[in-house]
Order: sequence, then C-alpha cells, then structure tokens
Amino acid sequence: MTNNSSIIINQSNNLEGEINIPGDKSITHRAVMLGSLSRGRMDITNALLSEDCKRTINAFILLGVKISVSKNIISIYGNGLHSLKPPTEDIDAGNSGTLARLISGILAVQDFNSSLTGDKSLIQRPMKRVIEPLLEAGATIRSSNNMLPLSFIKSSLSPIRYTSKLPSAQVKSCLLLASLFIQGKSIIAEDTKTRDHTERMLEYLNYPIDIDGKLITLSGLGVIEAKDISVPSDISSAAFFIIASLIQDDSHITMKSIGINPLRTGILDILGQMGADIQIVNSNSINNEPVADILVKSSKLSPINISGDIISRLIDELPILFIACACCEGDSLISGIEELRHKESDRIQSMQEGLIRLGIKVETTLDSIKITGGDFKGGIVNSYGDHRVAMSFLVAGLISKKPITVIDTDNINTSFPSFIKILKDQNNEIYNL
Ligand code: S3P
Repeated sequence: MTNNSSIIINQSNNLEGEINIPGDKSITHRAVMLGSLSRGRMDITNALLSEDCKRTINAFILLGVKISVSKNIISIYGNGLHSLKPPTEDIDAGNSGTLARLISGILAVQDFNSSLTGDKSLIQRPMKRVIEPLLEAGATIRSSNNMLPLSFIKSSLSPIRYTSKLPSAQVKSCLLLASLFIQGKSIIAEDTKTRDHTERMLEYLNYPIDIDGKLITLSGLGVIEAKDISVPSDISSAAFFIIASLIQDDSHITMKSIGINPLRTGILDILGQMGADIQIVNSNSINNEPVADILVKSSKLSPINISGDIISRLIDELPILFIACACCEGDSLISGIEELRHKESDRIQSMQEGLIRLGIKVETTLDSIKITGGDFKGGIVNSYGDHRVAMSFLVAGLISKKPITVIDTDNINTSFPSFIKILKDQNNEIYNL
C-alpha cells in the first residue's frame, strides 16, 4: 500500500438523509474464516470488501478454499474443518491485526507448516499475546521478538486452558479457532468481556459451545455446517458519521441495520451521557447479532471522564470520540487506554499530535489523554497510515474554520472504502492532493 495520498477538506454544510454504512469488519473476517472451515456453501451478504477483508479472503484461497466474490456477496464452498491445504507462499495479512491474530490460531493447529507476514505497520505490532497461549498448548511457532513474520510448524496441541488478562477479542477468537481443531475440552476465559462475534457465529452455525459469563468451553473436532450469513453494518464505521452529525449544526441522519452488539455499543452509551440526540429504532436480530437503525441529530455535547470496562466496548471509536471531546466546552479525561498505543499507529500519539496542530489543548500519559475543548483552526495533520486517525481528522475538517489537510489517507480503504464518497455525496468540499 502506498502512503502518499493526502486529502484536503473544507468546512461543510449539515449532514442529512440516509447514510449507507458498509458491513462489519470483525464479522466479515470471522464469516470468511468459519465459512472456510464449514461444510457446504455459505453466502455472506453485505460483506465488507475492504483491503483487510480481502486479505482474509486471499489467505483462505491460498489455503485451498474455493471462494468467489460478486458485488458484496462472498460465496464460500467449504469442505470442512480438515480441508485446508499447505499454502504455496507466505500468507500476507497486510495491515490487518484481526486477520493476523485470528489466523494464527488456525495455522498453529494444521498438519502442515506455514508462514505469516504483514505490512510495515503490522510487523511492529505485538503477537506475543497469541503466541504465548498457543505455545502453552503445545504449538511450535518461530518468530524473532514475538513479531511477524511467524512460522508455524506442524505440531499436536492439547486442550487450551487460558485466561486472558488483556481485554482482546482477537486473542480470545484466536484460541477459540484453534480449539476447533483440538481433541477434548478447551476452556478460555477473559477478565474483561470483549466483542463476542466468534462465539455468536459458532452458535448460529450450530457448533456446540458453552458460554458461562466470562468462561467459554468448546470441544474440538465437531462439524460446522455452512449457513448463509448477512453481515450487520459496522458500528465502528457508523461512529464517524454519528459524531460528524452531532458536531455539525442542523444535521439529522439515519443509518440502517447497524450492528448493536452490546459489547460494541460503548460509543452510544458515552455519547448519550455527553448529551447526544441519538435514537435506536427498529431493533432486530440477524444471524444471532442484534441490529437496529440509528437516528442522529446535531447536539451540544458535554465533556466526559471515562475509564475501566467501557474502554473495550469502544476501543476502535476512541480516535473519533477524541474529536467529539475537542468540540465540548471543558476538559475530557479518558484513562486506561494503553492498548491504543498498539493499534495501526500509536493512536494516543497520532491523535495528540494532530489535535495540537489543529489548535486543541491535549495532555497525555502512557495510558490516558486529557482534551480541552476548543475550535479547530485548520492545518496539516499526519494520519501515520492509520485509517481511523485519518477519518477522525477528516470529520474534524467538516467544522474547522480553515481547511484541514490529512496526509497519508490510503489506509482508509482497509476498513471503509466508501468513506470519502459518502462525504462527497453529502456535498462536502473534499479534494485529493
Ligand atoms: C477486533 C478486536 C479489537 C479491535 C479490532 C477488531 C476483532 O482488537 O480493536 O479492530 O475483530 O476481534 P483487540 O482484540 O486487540 O482489542
């Protein structure tokens, strides 16, 4: 991926009407993975066809699975748990931490060797969190410094018994996927409950799994029968337009069929506390995931002070939440967010640098950020190749008195390829440099 494209955005009009949010990234990754391990044809509709999800599709094609893509439907012709074939080249997870962590659980338990790598950002992100529990269960994984590239050497694993101290759905899901291939009962627990899409999808596909609070028990070597999956629209992508509409006067938008899994809706709870006018209507459930339509109107927001378990329920929404905090009168304090330093960029650092450049007062520690509300005065900010940082500063551009230029924006395609088109369709002045 190149990292030289910049975008300039000018102060805009209000946002209005219906905004089409693409499919959920976490759920699309998991659907491709579980579809590849199931028996029969699975059609995944409203799939997210972003760069990250395409990496997952390509990884499983490389592992011998027949997959075809037409519009935003992914069709997988699975041949069951033991159908994967040795890849003829290294699997490249690109920029995707979710792919790298989750597929590690699958590669570690195959009866063939394989290698996994990623782009210049991903090879610097921590993999010890998945390597360690897999090694404990008997896997053989070679790496230097617990980072990508990783080599998985064929080995036989015993049932996993692991409690994750780190709130990470990627770690939990990696171990659940590995457990599918291990004879006997694996027990995986987490101190803080994280997004449970893997568990919900296994239940939906009728795979026996027992969930007791934070404890998950699963016996391997069962059969996963393919069933079609319709992917809810991504609340993490919707968050950019929720906050854009809140901070831009006279806005009122609707977004349909957004995933409102309770372990992902921390952003709605916090914005509610800040005084946001957000309505959740037409609640429903699709393939074991709750969805609803979300209606948003411009609102005056108040500052917040948050920490603790809520953080894992809005971990991906923190960069755009910082923009909302910058629009409040007074100080907001968000603590317990050290994990942000290990995302596609060090998000505390990238957001602090950009906000300060735009004239906002910010103080940070290793695991917290304090933002004093003020006016965006425009300027040039670097996204450091991080999609969520780039989109956050483009949203700030909607209300900035002078234009904001965001450097390094190609990465938006990893999660939200239609983001720029939606902004342009809302009559915003936005130009590629
Ligand atoms: C994800 C889990 C979260 C999140 C990421 C997607 C997933 O990461 O930040 O964007 O799909 O499981 P962690 O598990 O590292 O918290």
